[in-house]
Amino acid sequence: MQQLHTASAEDTIRLGQKIGYKVAPGDIITLHGSLGSGKTTIVKGIADSLQIADEITSPSYTLIAEYEGRIPLYHMDLYRIDSLEEFELLGAEELLYGSGVSIIEWAEKIEQLLPDNCISITFCIDAAAEREIKIEGIQEVLTL
Ligand SMILES: Nc1ncnc2c1ncn2[C@@H]1O[C@H](COP(=O)(O)OP(=O)(O)O)[C@@H](O)[C@H]1O
Ligand SMILES: [Mg+2]
Repeated sequence: MQQLHTASAEDTIRLGQKIGYKVAPGDIITLHGSLGSGKTTIVKGIADSLQIADEITSPSYTLIAEYEGRIPLYHMDLYRIDSLEEFELLGAEELLYGSGVSIIEWAEKIEQLLPDNCISITFCIDAAAEREIKIEGIQEVLTL
């Protein structure tokens, strides 16, 4: 487990870039933390390392966005999902076992479906409105 601190969105994007260089096809990254804590922001950095040219936007309405890169990226935002059944109806489960990288905001909503070896990133907004970021399940990333 590694605990890091970022003082700006740019710092969080840079951290995402470092994580992005370490991910492999089939990896699942779960993102946790309140609204506005930085989950979509870190995806921008990870996508950059996957050589995705498209701008990453929050898939809060579409729930899933797929991007082509060095490795395909499936970016999911499950904030609006209320049950496992709803997720299953989306047909997204098979993506988790495919050859892309899945990054899932609010992944705790489908915890029962997820394998044990996910990379987990948890965001906390601290007293200075900066971010404490806890990373589990991946080889240590260099500090910023
Ligand atoms: N250290 C930081 N890391 C990430 N985002 C930050 C940070 N400081 C301020 N922000 C701002 O917080 C917001 C985070 O939004 P977003 O990444 O969409 O959150 P989430 O996806 O968790 O709801 C952005 O407006 C971003 O500019
Ligand atoms: Mg988001």
